[in-house]
Amino acid sequence: MPEIHVVRKDNRHLYEPYFDPYFRWRHEIYVKQRKWMALDRPDGREIDQFDTEDAVYLFCIDNGQLIGAMRALPTLLPTLMSDIFPYLNIRGPIRRSDVYELSRIFVIPERRGEHAGPRVEMLLLTAIMEYGISVGLTGFTIVLESWWLPRFERCGWKAHPLGLPQTIDGMSVLAVLVDCDDTTWKSLCGQIGLTRPILTWRGLAGLNRLALPDISLPPPAFAQPAQ
Ligand code: COA
Repeated sequence: MPEIHVVRKDNRHLYEPYFDPYFRWRHEIYVKQRKWMALDRPDGREIDQFDTEDAVYLFCIDNGQLIGAMRALPTLLPTLMSDIFPYLNIRGPIRRSDVYELSRIFVIPERRGEHAGPRVEMLLLTAIMEYGISVGLTGFTIVLESWWLPRFERCGWKAHPLGLPQTIDGMSVLAVLVDCDDTTWKSLCGQIGLTRPILTWRGLAGLNRLALPDISLPPPAFAQPAQ
């Protein structure tokens, strides 16, 4: 099973070798493949103004290779929603210490759509809930393409629209607030067969967080006593 590592300013030095491939993958995926040309940079690394020391990254690592990632930004600081797409949120920007903004979720092409184990994307969606609960978050804002909504619905992420979808560069895009709660996390764990928290908190012993317990999943149907 791949590992999901929490990378923050306090332990970033331990993950420096992963940052160059990480930013290169972002360029490959978002600029070259998805053609989000506004993100293009001549050095072949997709890095934006939100990749500051306050950004938190989840790195999915398998056999020493980065195979997927996600970024979380404090909404008390500038975010994509507050600075680039404010018109998507009709109620005005959300700036709360218990809400982070998610962006740049990706899985490298050769590890997408896997069926032999939990999909890497599902691991990331589960892991970010675990992260949020562990550090006391109650929600995530996201600027996303509307094709995510049925995917969230299927996996149990509760996404509340903050405005109407708008067409941006040919894509239908909207802003949502997703609940970060224990029930969603446990449901995701159940869907992918996780019985314990998955996150690796290397070098983060000083971080104030809740240590989540193992999860008891209901026994498989065949093990239940006959009625
Ligand atoms: N537009 C519409 N649907 C898309 C899509 C896009 N740009 N990217 C993926 N999907 C849909 C696929 O059509 C597929 O649907 P299907 O199962 O009904 O055929 C489904 O999502 C699965 O996608 P797939 O890429 O096979 O694998 P995955 O579930 O393992 O990974 C992502 C999903 C989004 C993580 C992966 O496609 C990815 O890394 N994409 C590039 C990065 C990206 O665009 N991130 C979102 C914006 S930050």
